Amino acid sequence: MNSRVVTRFETTLPVDDDHQYRTGAWQPNFTEWSVTDCAVEGELPDDLNGVYLRNTENPLHPAIGRYHPFDGDGMLHAMEFGNGTANYRNRFVRTAGFEAELAAGGPLWAGLAEPASRSIRPDGWGARTRMKDASSTDVVVHAGKALTSFYQCGDLYALDPVTLEQFGAERWGGQFPVEGVSAHPKVDEHTGELLFFNYSTVAPYMHYGVLDPDGSLAHYTPIELPGARLSHDMAFTEHYAVLNDCPMFWDPDLLARDVHAVRFYPDIPTRIGVVPRRDQRRHQVVRGRPDVRAALDQRVRRRRRGRARRLLPGQPGAQRAAGRDDRAAHVPLPRQHDARAEALSLAAQHGDWRGERRFPRRPHE
Ligand SMILES: [Fe+2]
Repeated sequence: MNSRVVTRFETTLPVDDDHQYRTGAWQPNFTEWSVTDCAVEGELPDDLNGVYLRNTENPLHPAIGRYHPFDGDGMLHAMEFGNGTANYRNRFVRTAGFEAELAAGGPLWAGLAEPASRSIRPDGWGARTRMKDASSTDVVVHAGKALTSFYQCGDLYALDPVTLEQFGAERWGGQFPVEGVSAHPKVDEHTGELLFFNYSTVAPYMHYGVLDPDGSLAHYTPIELPGARLSHDMAFTEHYAVLNDCPMFWDPDLLARDVHAVRFYPDIPTRIGVVPRRDQRRHQVVRGRPDVRAALDQRVRRRRRGRARRLLPGQPGAQRAAGRDDRAAHVPLPRQHDARAEALSLAAQHGDWRGERRFPRRPHE
């Protein structure tokens, strides 16, 4: 076994730190290591080849106010297997927020358990705004790169999945969404696509998109939601992406006053959005409760009756619009969406996709 210290970081956490989320199994690590030919107990199968990646919350500094474990800086751990041997490496994810706090010698952004107003820096990341993008939530491998992500929507940071060499924040040729990307993007191993979503406190409250294996943004479209949501994850099938609208989200009344308080609304049903992976024309919303579904269908029928009434008898389409009333089965997507047109429109409005829309002043720009 050959172990080498790559970097030792100076922490500003107290020596006698006894915080429940920074001790025991949560004990942060401030040293980056590269270890080759790890000691093995037993035997590694000869045909075990690959890398096991784990992202962790690993704070270098104390919190401003209360510490929540989601606030910790991202640290990626890689255990590489091949030819019956194992190598280990760990690295802090060099996010812009991590670098800024390193330079400042202490915390600059308040975390999840504190109001955004307690942040020292007026800028930042996240749907809540004024947070540090710690990129500590998730890691996937896409097109040969490990991509770390942030649960509140932020950048995707790219690293070599084996050596953990850092390539910085993904730019997607200038098309990286200004709303950021949520943790839990999905890689389709069959097509090589990356499917992702984000969420926001301002309309459109969600976007869904697809990145091609060559790193170009192939699809990016708003998803209609009744208000700000806190979607955690997504799924996909061969033809559809599956998105969530769950009844646990920021209290809209408080949100209007810039207070971010998460509440559970037991009377609001969970909705599952089934979205064609690239073609929005067949978007359906599957409602969890039959009574809600019936009410929705009634609303659609009413709307269509109104449309039929606006057509004069004998006018082309009048008969067809009226006849469709009783066959309403689901909510069709309002209109086909052209992701490229959206990109061009945003580019025209803001100069480029990384304009001043969501993250007014990024510390690394
Ligand atoms: Fe998660």
